Amino acid sequence: MSLRARLTGFGSYLPKQVVTNADLAERIETSDEWIRTRTGIAQRHIAGEDETAVSMAVNSARAALAYAGIDAQEIGAVIVATATPDQCFPATAVRVQAELGMAAGFAFDLTAACSGFVYALATAEAFIRSGQVKKALVIGTEVYSRIVDWEDRTTCVLFGDGAGAVVLEATEEEGLGILSTHLHSDGSHGDILYVDGPATAKPVLHMQGREVFRHAVAKLSSVVDEALAANGLQGQDIAWLVPHQANLRIIEGMAKKLALPLDRVVVTVDRHANTSAASIPLALDEAVRDGRIKPGDLVLLEALGGGLTWGSALLRL
Ligand code: UT7
Repeated sequence: MSLRARLTGFGSYLPKQVVTNADLAERIETSDEWIRTRTGIAQRHIAGEDETAVSMAVNSARAALAYAGIDAQEIGAVIVATATPDQCFPATAVRVQAELGMAAGFAFDLTAACSGFVYALATAEAFIRSGQVKKALVIGTEVYSRIVDWEDRTTCVLFGDGAGAVVLEATEEEGLGILSTHLHSDGSHGDILYVDGPATAKPVLHMQGREVFRHAVAKLSSVVDEALAANGLQGQDIAWLVPHQANLRIIEGMAKKLALPLDRVVVTVDRHANTSAASIPLALDEAVRDGRIKPGDLVLLEALGGGLTWGSALLRL
């Protein structure tokens, strides 16, 4: 009997402070109209001084554990996807492990920028399939407000802060849980979206937006095709698309490609902006809790980010 990883818990956390496009337009040369029409973003949540990658991750993890109805002591692995850790080390995941009072298991961070959650989900799934871990926490947590240049209107309007978490549990039930994952990277495009290393400079995000957009449309299209082909499915078989939330125009392009109406796509970019590795688990949590995504639904996740990295995960709840 083969093991599969099933998503049994969902949680998220958003900082209290909301910054609207109009707020930004008071500080830099931009407008609500430009931001909305180019990206679909209306507002973003920005971390306060006491909110960090660790604190937000812990809040989202607690909510996911409560949803799953399990205790942190049952968790065998904590994998955190983040590009904005509190410290170079110990890993964010290890700090989360301590905050949750876990006395066992192992924890580590993974960096794949905006694709981080899909990478972390695929990694946790591999541990579960191999039988090494029975229950895992997978978290995306980001504080991009601390790495954007607030004077650079081409990037600072795009991002927001937040965290999302899922609990994965091993199951032997056929056809449930994560059905496939497909990960890709191409380091030759590393310079079109990057953050300076803390060892060399104050980390600041740099992006050639138009270039990244071009790659996103092509690479997300191909990874979505790959996921469908691997499972013998058509776009319309998907109940819910939960994409990385970078730009509504990219999201609409993917919906069109899959021939899915927008009401079968979970969209949070309007309210959360781009929260990088946190965007997919934030969107998943919202749609599961408000009853849109139901047990048994076929859900497709896809993301592209700095690296370039990109990937998909197909799952049945
Ligand atoms: O999450 C990781 C992956 N990231 C992405 O997927 C992001 C992909 N890229 C994008 O979403 C879009 O390229 C952006 C939203 C970043 C930019 O949209 P765009 O339609 O590609 O605009 P652009 O960069 O071509 O800029 C158009 C104009 C420029 O002015 P000129 O050169 O035409 O005079 C910019 O200077 O808009 C100007 N501009 C702005 N104007 C007002 C750039 N940022 C702003 C701004 N407010 N915030």
